[in-house]
Amino acid sequence: MVSYKDLGLVNTREMFKKAVTGGYAIPAYNFNDMEQLQAIIQACVETKSPVILQVSKGARDYANINLLYNMAKGAVEYSKFLGYQIPIVLHLDHGADFDICKSCIDNGFSSVMIDASSHPYEENIEITKKVVEYAHKYDVTVEGELGVLSGVEDEVASEQSHYTRPEEVIDFVSKTGVDSLAISIGTSHGANKFKPEQCTRDPKTGRLIPPSLRFDILKEVEEKLKGFPIVLHGSSSVPQEYVDIINKFGGNLKDSIGIPEDQLRQAAKSAVCKINIDSDGRLAMTAAVRKYLAENPAAFDPRKYLGAARDELKKMYMRKNIEVLGSNDKC
Ligand code: G3H
Ligand code: 13P
Ligand code: ZN
Repeated sequence: MVSYKDLGLVNTREMFKKAVTGGYAIPAYNFNDMEQLQAIIQACVETKSPVILQVSKGARDYANINLLYNMAKGAVEYSKFLGYQIPIVLHLDHGADFDICKSCIDNGFSSVMIDASSHPYEENIEITKKVVEYAHKYDVTVEGELGVLSGVEDEVASEQSHYTRPEEVIDFVSKTGVDSLAISIGTSHGANKFKPEQCTRDPKTGRLIPPSLRFDILKEVEEKLKGFPIVLHGSSSVPQEYVDIINKFGGNLKDSIGIPEDQLRQAAKSAVCKINIDSDGRLAMTAAVRKYLAENPAAFDPRKYLGAARDELKKMYMRKNIEVLGSNDKC
């Protein structure tokens, strides 16, 4: 058993309390490798932002869970080395069942998500409650989910999305004892969140404008669960400048549409206190690597092109913290 407390990590409890009352959201950035981790920590230290480091199933398969929690421990030391210790959470993203949640709790994670939202409602309650009972013994916080996002939710592939039903949230939270709740209000995973035919076109820029998030659902949930931490998944904005760079330098991304950042800013000011961003990091890195290699055809040192990717990532995360989440200067 490795306790997150021995690694210098924290759970989400205090962080979320401050974020809900302060009207901002904590960044939840996925990481799979050293460059992503360096960029996240550098950006969050420089903006004085708390951070949630997220580990998905894809990350565990790619990097090894043991290595990942030791990297998170290293992140705490790295933050101190950079001269400012920020609160860091190590969080399991989309835990599919009790066993994976238990294994992460036993291996240094300070927070887990149990994603049983594609199960029938009563089963979701049963599975989530079991995880909460185990996690709370070790002071690990738990995120549950109600409603299903479209697209692929890591291990949980969802053909059919449905919005969170506000009438279920009080019952779910009180029966399970979760510490935060992910809801479905129109976000989805990946870089193709909407079909072009669902969007309108900005007459000035020609850019596609996606349909608005369901702020009415968010408001109803907030009214029912006053002061309770709400989480948004699938919140990449899919910056078009990265899509353009990728396509200019040999890529072929089509119909890449994300959540407009002004809507995420609006959500962050409400009870939404954790915003998950993964795809934007992938786009920033890919754009930087493609550009670097196209402009430096003789380069073959990975530190050059991965260094360019890391710098671009850091820039993007700093901007997200300051302009979208409002998590800067909060620690
Ligand atoms: O929620 C999904 C995340 O973006 C993780 O995706 O399993 O490919 O790392 P991944
Ligand atoms: P994006 O694919 O929009 O970045 O969402 C990531 C996410 O929700 C991770 O859990
Ligand atoms: Zn997610």
